[in-house]
Amino acid sequence: MSPLSDAILARANVLAWYRRTRRDLPWRRTRDAYAIWISEAMLQQTRVETVRGYWTRFLERFPTVEALAAAEEAEVLALWSGLGYYGRARRLLAAARVVTEEHSGRFPATRVAAEALPGVGAYTAGAVLSIAYGLPEALVDGNVARVFCRFFGLEGDPARDPLKGDLWHRARALVAEGEGDAGDWNQALMELGARVCTARAPTCEACPAADGCAAVRAGRTAELPQLAAARPVRRVEVDLLLVARAGRWLVERRPPGGAMAGLLQFPTVERTPPGGEPSGLFALPDDLLEPGELLGEVRHAITHHRIRARVRAGRAGYRGAREGLGWLRRSALVDAELTGMARKVLRAGFLER
Ligand code: ADE
Repeated sequence: MSPLSDAILARANVLAWYRRTRRDLPWRRTRDAYAIWISEAMLQQTRVETVRGYWTRFLERFPTVEALAAAEEAEVLALWSGLGYYGRARRLLAAARVVTEEHSGRFPATRVAAEALPGVGAYTAGAVLSIAYGLPEALVDGNVARVFCRFFGLEGDPARDPLKGDLWHRARALVAEGEGDAGDWNQALMELGARVCTARAPTCEACPAADGCAAVRAGRTAELPQLAAARPVRRVEVDLLLVARAGRWLVERRPPGGAMAGLLQFPTVERTPPGGEPSGLFALPDDLLEPGELLGEVRHAITHHRIRARVRAGRAGYRGAREGLGWLRRSALVDAELTGMARKVLRAGFLER
């Protein structure tokens, strides 16, 4: 194990490395707590390169927390379409309303008040308070956990106590070593985890903290962190139907509560594999859905599911007895709150075929 004093020595190196090499990301050019909050909400579960465009479009449409608070949920979901984990967008909207109504439009400046907002957990509170307000607040995300497990040589599952609590303790101790630099320090740790101390094939020769690193010393970078086994990936086969009538396309609203709740999709039915169990993500075929000509295929991943959708023309005259069906023009589809899979179908040009 490396002692905390080694990390305190490495701290200045890591910070200097970050200031020298940091990526130029649009949300690093602002101190607006609202804009930074949106970036951190998007960056949970989504890669930086994907978030760039989404963040820019979101801030153009909703430049202030008041603008977001006044939005319809459907429009927020439409802008979020493709980022996945739509509960994040719903909670963000709910939190924007609380900030507008109860905090005069200012993201709260204490951890307790920030964590009371829907969707704002210990990580997001630490990120916004340190980056936007320069407050000495710590954070631990997956990147920081990996950096610490390797540097300090920590055994155990970083997502669970006792190691989880220990990681937060170390994060707070290292933030306390600085003065007014918590925002840069926290981002330096995350950036190190994202670009150097990567899950696979870390580039230790380029690491500003390699000198004090317990995993480098012991040749154990491949063994740490000790992550709990990932949930197995499940394959799902579906038929996705494109049904047109009088210039409009048939869409269905997904049921509340489940995956992609409340978003619109093209009618989709699950093809149960012989002897297999349906995933429950999609409805089962019914008499009224009659798949026609095969147009092509789209693949899509959500959480631990890998979906293969056979895109088919739907039978003319289809009426549909299922709940939540409606017709939309091509031009209205573009701005609708579609699922990521529906958006892929649209982008792939299937509607023009
Ligand atoms: N991942 C999430 N937020 C980040 C940030 N502010 N800097 C670097 N990586 C991040």
